[in-house]
Amino acid sequence: MKILVSDKVSDEGVEILRQAHEVDVKHNLTPDELIATIPQYDALVVRSETKATRAVIEAAANLKVIGRAGVGVDNIDIQAATEKGIMVINAPDGNTVAATEHTMAMMLALARNVPQAYRSMKEGKWERGKFMGVEMRGKTLGVIGLGRIGTGVAKRALAFEMKVLAYDPYISEEKAEDLGIELAELDQIYAQADFMTLHLPLTPETKHLLNDGVFAKMKKGVRIVQCARGGVIDEAALVRAIEAGIVAGAAVDVFEKEPVLPENPLLKLDNVIVTPHLGASTKEAQLGVAVDVAAGVLAALNEEPVTTA
Ligand code: NAD
Ligand code: MLT
Repeated sequence: MKILVSDKVSDEGVEILRQAHEVDVKHNLTPDELIATIPQYDALVVRSETKATRAVIEAAANLKVIGRAGVGVDNIDIQAATEKGIMVINAPDGNTVAATEHTMAMMLALARNVPQAYRSMKEGKWERGKFMGVEMRGKTLGVIGLGRIGTGVAKRALAFEMKVLAYDPYISEEKAEDLGIELAELDQIYAQADFMTLHLPLTPETKHLLNDGVFAKMKKGVRIVQCARGGVIDEAALVRAIEAGIVAGAAVDVFEKEPVLPENPLLKLDNVIVTPHLGASTKEAQLGVAVDVAAGVLAALNEEPVTTA
Protein backbone atom coordinates (compact mmCIF):
# COMPACT_ATOMS: atom_id res chain seq x y z
CA MET A 1 0.00 0.00 0.00
CA LYS A 2 1.04 3.65 -0.37
CA ILE A 3 1.42 6.10 2.49
CA LEU A 4 1.86 9.87 2.19
CA VAL A 5 3.66 11.69 5.03
CA SER A 6 2.84 15.33 4.36
CA ASP A 7 4.32 17.04 7.46
CA LYS A 8 7.65 16.77 9.28
CA VAL A 9 7.50 13.54 11.27
CA SER A 10 10.53 11.92 12.94
CA ASP A 11 12.52 9.57 10.70
CA GLU A 12 12.04 6.65 13.09
CA GLY A 13 8.28 6.72 12.48
CA VAL A 14 8.70 7.01 8.70
CA GLU A 15 11.15 4.06 8.80
CA ILE A 16 8.58 1.87 10.61
CA LEU A 17 6.06 2.64 7.87
CA ARG A 18 8.66 2.00 5.14
CA GLN A 19 9.39 -1.48 6.44
CA ALA A 20 5.81 -2.46 5.61
CA HIS A 21 4.67 -0.17 2.76
CA GLU A 22 5.74 2.32 0.11
CA VAL A 23 6.11 5.77 1.70
CA ASP A 24 6.34 9.20 0.08
CA VAL A 25 7.40 12.16 2.20
CA LYS A 26 6.16 15.41 0.64
CA HIS A 27 6.10 18.56 2.76
CA ASN A 28 4.54 21.95 2.04
CA LEU A 29 2.02 20.72 -0.51
CA THR A 30 -0.52 23.38 -1.45
CA PRO A 31 -4.18 22.44 -0.93
CA ASP A 32 -4.54 21.87 -4.70
CA GLU A 33 -1.39 19.72 -4.84
CA LEU A 34 -2.65 17.63 -1.93
CA ILE A 35 -6.03 17.15 -3.61
CA ALA A 36 -4.29 16.13 -6.85
CA THR A 37 -1.94 13.65 -5.20
CA ILE A 38 -4.12 12.12 -2.47
CA PRO A 39 -6.11 9.66 -4.68
CA GLN A 40 -3.06 7.36 -5.01
CA TYR A 41 -2.60 6.90 -1.24
CA ASP A 42 -4.05 4.42 1.27
CA ALA A 43 -2.86 6.35 4.33
CA LEU A 44 -2.00 9.95 5.13
CA VAL A 45 0.23 10.96 8.06
CA VAL A 46 0.15 14.61 9.23
CA ARG A 47 1.10 16.92 12.07
CA SER A 48 -0.76 20.22 12.27
CA GLU A 49 0.38 21.96 9.08
CA THR A 50 -1.55 19.81 6.60
CA LYS A 51 -5.26 20.59 6.52
CA ALA A 52 -7.20 17.42 5.73
CA THR A 53 -10.29 19.31 4.61
CA ARG A 54 -13.53 17.88 3.22
CA ALA A 55 -12.23 18.62 -0.31
CA VAL A 56 -9.06 16.60 0.36
CA ILE A 57 -11.02 13.74 1.91
CA GLU A 58 -13.56 13.66 -0.92
CA ALA A 59 -10.69 13.41 -3.43
CA ALA A 60 -9.09 10.56 -1.45
CA ALA A 61 -10.39 7.63 -3.47
CA ASN A 62 -8.28 4.98 -1.72
CA LEU A 63 -7.65 6.47 1.70
CA LYS A 64 -8.29 4.17 4.65
CA VAL A 65 -6.66 6.03 7.52
CA ILE A 66 -5.39 9.48 8.49
CA GLY A 67 -2.77 9.42 11.25
CA ARG A 68 -2.07 12.54 13.30
CA ALA A 69 1.41 12.61 14.86
CA GLY A 70 0.21 14.50 17.93
CA VAL A 71 -2.96 15.18 19.90
CA GLY A 72 -5.13 17.83 18.22
CA VAL A 73 -7.20 16.65 15.27
CA ASP A 74 -8.75 20.04 14.53
CA ASN A 75 -6.86 20.13 11.20
CA ILE A 76 -8.78 17.05 10.03
CA ASP A 77 -12.43 17.14 8.96
CA ILE A 78 -13.52 14.19 11.09
CA GLN A 79 -17.12 14.38 9.92
CA ALA A 80 -16.06 14.12 6.26
CA ALA A 81 -13.66 11.26 7.10
CA THR A 82 -16.37 9.39 9.03
CA GLU A 83 -18.83 9.78 6.14
CA LYS A 84 -16.22 8.18 3.85
CA GLY A 85 -15.33 5.41 6.27
CA ILE A 86 -11.80 6.76 6.76
CA MET A 87 -10.36 6.13 10.20
CA VAL A 88 -8.73 9.07 12.01
CA ILE A 89 -6.16 8.17 14.64
CA ASN A 90 -3.91 10.34 16.75
CA ALA A 91 -0.90 9.84 19.03
CA PRO A 92 -2.21 11.38 22.25
CA ASP A 93 0.44 10.46 24.81
CA GLY A 94 3.79 11.06 23.18
CA ASN A 95 3.94 14.83 23.55
CA THR A 96 2.19 15.27 26.91
CA VAL A 97 5.37 15.91 28.90
CA ALA A 98 6.80 18.19 26.22
CA ALA A 99 3.67 20.36 26.12
CA THR A 100 3.42 20.35 29.92
CA GLU A 101 7.02 21.46 30.35
CA HIS A 102 6.67 24.10 27.64
CA THR A 103 3.63 25.49 29.46
CA MET A 104 5.67 25.76 32.67
CA ALA A 105 8.53 27.39 30.75
CA MET A 106 6.11 29.93 29.28
CA MET A 107 4.47 30.62 32.64
CA LEU A 108 7.81 31.22 34.36
CA ALA A 109 9.12 33.31 31.48
CA LEU A 110 5.95 35.39 31.57
CA ALA A 111 6.12 35.89 35.34
CA ARG A 112 9.76 37.01 35.21
CA ASN A 113 9.94 38.81 31.83
CA VAL A 114 12.71 36.48 30.69
CA PRO A 115 12.32 37.05 26.91
CA GLN A 116 12.08 40.84 27.30
CA ALA A 117 15.19 40.93 29.53
CA TYR A 118 17.05 38.67 27.11
CA ARG A 119 16.25 40.97 24.20
CA SER A 120 17.30 44.04 26.19
CA MET A 121 20.68 42.56 27.16
CA LYS A 122 21.31 41.36 23.61
CA GLU A 123 20.75 44.98 22.56
CA GLY A 124 23.63 45.92 24.88
CA LYS A 125 21.48 47.30 27.71
CA TRP A 126 21.55 46.64 31.46
CA GLU A 127 18.01 47.42 32.63
CA ARG A 128 17.65 45.83 36.07
CA GLY A 129 14.83 48.15 37.12
CA LYS A 130 12.70 47.54 34.06
CA PHE A 131 11.87 43.87 34.40
CA MET A 132 10.25 43.50 37.80
CA GLY A 133 8.39 40.21 37.89
CA VAL A 134 5.84 38.45 40.08
CA GLU A 135 6.11 35.21 42.03
CA MET A 136 4.00 32.18 41.28
CA ARG A 137 4.00 30.99 44.87
CA GLY A 138 0.70 31.78 46.56
CA LYS A 139 -1.00 32.75 43.30
CA THR A 140 -4.15 31.11 41.96
CA LEU A 141 -3.75 29.21 38.71
CA GLY A 142 -6.87 28.47 36.66
CA VAL A 143 -6.46 25.38 34.50
CA ILE A 144 -9.07 25.08 31.77
CA GLY A 145 -9.06 21.51 30.46
CA LEU A 146 -7.82 18.93 32.95
CA GLY A 147 -6.76 16.18 30.56
CA ARG A 148 -3.22 14.86 30.14
CA ILE A 149 -1.44 18.20 29.79
CA GLY A 150 -3.71 20.14 32.16
CA THR A 151 -3.10 17.48 34.81
CA GLY A 152 0.66 17.64 34.28
CA VAL A 153 0.61 21.42 34.61
CA ALA A 154 -1.58 21.27 37.73
CA LYS A 155 0.86 18.85 39.40
CA ARG A 156 3.83 21.05 38.61
CA ALA A 157 2.01 24.20 39.71
CA LEU A 158 1.39 22.59 43.11
CA ALA A 159 5.14 22.08 43.39
CA PHE A 160 5.43 25.85 42.88
CA GLU A 161 3.02 26.30 45.82
CA MET A 162 0.25 27.71 43.67
CA LYS A 163 -3.44 27.24 44.45
CA VAL A 164 -4.95 25.38 41.49
CA LEU A 165 -8.55 25.71 40.31
CA ALA A 166 -9.57 23.64 37.31
CA TYR A 167 -12.53 23.59 34.97
CA ASP A 168 -13.29 20.54 32.86
CA PRO A 169 -16.87 19.41 32.36
CA TYR A 170 -15.78 15.82 31.71
CA ILE A 171 -13.61 15.30 34.81
CA SER A 172 -14.81 13.98 38.17
CA GLU A 173 -14.48 15.65 41.57
CA GLU A 174 -12.54 12.54 42.69
CA LYS A 175 -9.82 13.11 40.10
CA ALA A 176 -9.41 16.71 41.24
CA GLU A 177 -9.35 15.65 44.88
CA ASP A 178 -6.74 12.99 44.15
CA LEU A 179 -4.58 15.67 42.53
CA GLY A 180 -5.03 18.00 45.49
CA ILE A 181 -6.78 20.70 43.48
CA GLU A 182 -10.32 22.11 43.27
CA LEU A 183 -12.78 21.88 40.41
CA ALA A 184 -14.41 25.25 39.79
CA GLU A 185 -16.86 26.89 37.42
CA LEU A 186 -15.43 29.09 34.69
CA ASP A 187 -16.77 32.30 36.23
CA GLN A 188 -15.06 31.44 39.52
CA ILE A 189 -11.77 30.93 37.67
CA TYR A 190 -12.20 34.18 35.74
CA ALA A 191 -12.84 36.07 38.98
CA GLN A 192 -10.00 34.51 41.00
CA ALA A 193 -7.15 33.42 38.74
CA ASP A 194 -3.86 35.32 38.75
CA PHE A 195 -2.58 32.96 36.06
CA MET A 196 -4.74 31.02 33.63
CA THR A 197 -3.64 28.21 31.34
CA LEU A 198 -5.63 26.48 28.61
CA HIS A 199 -5.42 22.77 27.82
CA LEU A 200 -8.52 21.89 25.87
CA PRO A 201 -9.10 21.00 22.21
CA LEU A 202 -10.36 23.42 19.57
CA THR A 203 -13.94 22.38 18.77
CA PRO A 204 -17.03 24.36 17.72
CA GLU A 205 -17.87 24.60 21.47
CA THR A 206 -14.45 25.87 22.55
CA LYS A 207 -13.83 28.32 19.67
CA HIS A 208 -13.30 31.81 21.14
CA LEU A 209 -13.97 30.51 24.65
CA LEU A 210 -11.99 33.53 25.82
CA ASN A 211 -13.70 36.51 24.18
CA ASP A 212 -14.45 40.16 25.03
CA GLY A 213 -17.28 39.24 27.41
CA VAL A 214 -15.12 36.74 29.26
CA PHE A 215 -12.08 39.02 29.51
CA ALA A 216 -14.37 41.62 31.09
CA LYS A 217 -15.06 39.15 33.94
CA MET A 218 -11.38 38.43 34.67
CA LYS A 219 -9.40 39.56 37.68
CA LYS A 220 -7.37 42.63 36.73
CA GLY A 221 -3.73 41.71 36.16
CA VAL A 222 -4.30 38.08 35.15
CA ARG A 223 -1.56 36.42 33.11
CA ILE A 224 -2.64 33.96 30.43
CA VAL A 225 -0.75 31.00 28.98
CA GLN A 226 -2.03 29.63 25.70
CA CYS A 227 -0.33 26.38 24.68
CA ALA A 228 -3.55 24.64 23.60
CA ARG A 229 -4.81 25.56 20.17
CA GLY A 230 -5.16 28.84 18.28
CA GLY A 231 -8.82 29.81 18.10
CA VAL A 232 -9.68 28.87 21.67
CA ILE A 233 -8.81 32.50 22.43
CA ASP A 234 -10.19 35.32 20.30
CA GLU A 235 -6.83 36.99 19.62
CA ALA A 236 -8.33 40.39 18.79
CA ALA A 237 -10.19 40.31 22.14
CA LEU A 238 -6.96 39.35 23.92
CA VAL A 239 -5.21 42.36 22.41
CA ARG A 240 -8.08 44.59 23.59
CA ALA A 241 -7.96 43.07 27.09
CA ILE A 242 -4.21 43.71 27.31
CA GLU A 243 -4.57 47.27 26.05
CA ALA A 244 -7.37 47.82 28.60
CA GLY A 245 -5.07 46.63 31.41
CA ILE A 246 -7.23 43.62 32.31
CA VAL A 247 -4.63 41.11 31.17
CA ALA A 248 -1.12 41.90 32.45
CA GLY A 249 0.59 39.56 30.02
CA ALA A 250 0.17 36.53 27.82
CA ALA A 251 2.43 33.69 26.74
CA VAL A 252 1.24 32.34 23.43
CA ASP A 253 2.50 29.24 21.60
CA VAL A 254 -0.46 28.62 19.28
CA PHE A 255 -2.26 31.09 17.05
CA GLU A 256 -5.47 31.48 15.11
CA LYS A 257 -3.47 31.63 11.89
CA GLU A 258 -0.17 29.77 11.62
CA PRO A 259 2.48 30.54 10.52
CA VAL A 260 1.98 33.90 12.23
CA LEU A 261 2.32 36.92 9.97
CA PRO A 262 4.63 39.75 11.12
CA GLU A 263 1.66 42.14 11.26
CA ASN A 264 -0.15 40.06 13.93
CA PRO A 265 -0.96 42.65 16.66
CA LEU A 266 0.09 40.23 19.42
CA LEU A 267 3.69 40.54 18.21
CA LYS A 268 3.59 44.29 18.78
CA LEU A 269 2.78 44.06 22.50
CA ASP A 270 5.79 43.99 24.87
CA ASN A 271 3.91 41.99 27.50
CA VAL A 272 3.05 39.20 25.07
CA ILE A 273 5.72 36.52 24.79
CA VAL A 274 5.55 34.05 21.95
CA THR A 275 6.93 30.81 20.60
CA PRO A 276 6.14 29.32 17.18
CA HIS A 277 3.98 26.32 18.18
CA LEU A 278 6.83 24.61 20.03
CA GLY A 279 4.78 22.80 22.68
CA ALA A 280 5.54 19.37 21.29
CA SER A 281 8.98 20.18 19.95
CA THR A 282 11.28 17.94 21.94
CA LYS A 283 13.27 15.05 20.53
CA GLU A 284 11.52 12.71 22.92
CA ALA A 285 8.03 13.87 22.00
CA GLN A 286 8.59 13.80 18.26
CA LEU A 287 10.07 10.32 18.47
CA GLY A 288 7.15 9.20 20.65
CA VAL A 289 4.35 10.55 18.47
CA ALA A 290 6.02 9.35 15.24
CA VAL A 291 6.44 5.79 16.52
CA ASP A 292 2.93 5.74 18.01
CA VAL A 293 1.24 7.08 14.90
CA ALA A 294 3.19 4.69 12.66
CA ALA A 295 2.06 1.74 14.79
CA GLY A 296 -1.53 2.96 14.62
CA VAL A 297 -1.47 3.48 10.85
CA LEU A 298 0.02 0.01 10.25
CA ALA A 299 -2.59 -1.57 12.51
CA ALA A 300 -5.37 0.28 10.67
CA LEU A 301 -4.04 -0.81 7.26
CA ASN A 302 -3.84 -4.40 8.56
CA GLU A 303 -7.43 -4.06 9.82
CA GLU A 304 -6.28 -4.72 13.38
CA PRO A 305 -7.82 -2.93 16.38
CA VAL A 306 -6.62 0.65 16.91
CA THR A 307 -7.64 3.49 19.19
CA THR A 308 -9.27 6.18 17.07
CA ALA A 309 -9.17 9.90 17.81
P1 NAD B 1 -6.64 15.64 26.50
O1 NAD B 1 -7.67 15.11 25.55
O2 NAD B 1 -5.95 14.70 27.42
O3 NAD B 1 -7.30 16.79 27.41
C1 NAD B 1 -8.20 17.74 26.92
C2 NAD B 1 -9.18 18.02 28.04
O4 NAD B 1 -10.01 19.09 27.63
C3 NAD B 1 -10.09 16.81 28.35
O5 NAD B 1 -9.98 16.44 29.72
C4 NAD B 1 -11.48 17.32 28.04
O6 NAD B 1 -12.45 16.84 28.93
C5 NAD B 1 -11.29 18.83 28.20
N1 NAD B 1 -12.30 19.63 27.55
C6 NAD B 1 -12.98 19.38 26.41
N2 NAD B 1 -13.86 20.36 26.17
C7 NAD B 1 -13.73 21.25 27.20
C8 NAD B 1 -14.37 22.47 27.52
N3 NAD B 1 -15.34 22.98 26.76
N4 NAD B 1 -13.98 23.12 28.65
C9 NAD B 1 -13.00 22.61 29.44
N5 NAD B 1 -12.38 21.43 29.18
C10 NAD B 1 -12.74 20.78 28.08
O7 NAD B 1 -5.61 16.42 25.59
P2 NAD B 1 -4.16 16.92 26.02
O8 NAD B 1 -3.16 15.93 25.58
O9 NAD B 1 -4.18 17.40 27.40
O10 NAD B 1 -4.02 18.17 25.01
C11 NAD B 1 -4.86 19.30 25.15
C12 NAD B 1 -4.77 20.15 23.91
O11 NAD B 1 -3.49 20.73 23.84
C13 NAD B 1 -4.91 19.37 22.60
O12 NAD B 1 -6.25 19.29 22.18
C14 NAD B 1 -4.07 20.14 21.62
O13 NAD B 1 -4.91 21.01 20.90
C15 NAD B 1 -3.15 20.96 22.49
N6 NAD B 1 -1.72 20.60 22.34
C16 NAD B 1 -0.89 21.58 21.96
C17 NAD B 1 0.46 21.31 21.85
C18 NAD B 1 1.40 22.40 21.40
O14 NAD B 1 2.31 22.10 20.65
N7 NAD B 1 1.27 23.62 21.87
C19 NAD B 1 0.96 20.05 22.12
C20 NAD B 1 0.06 19.05 22.52
C21 NAD B 1 -1.30 19.35 22.62
C1 MLT C 1 -0.60 18.53 19.09
O1 MLT C 1 -1.81 18.75 19.00
O2 MLT C 1 -0.14 17.42 19.34
C2 MLT C 1 0.31 19.69 18.95
O3 MLT C 1 -0.22 20.66 18.12
C3 MLT C 1 1.70 19.34 18.63
C4 MLT C 1 2.10 19.34 17.20
O4 MLT C 1 1.80 18.44 16.47
O5 MLT C 1 2.77 20.25 16.80
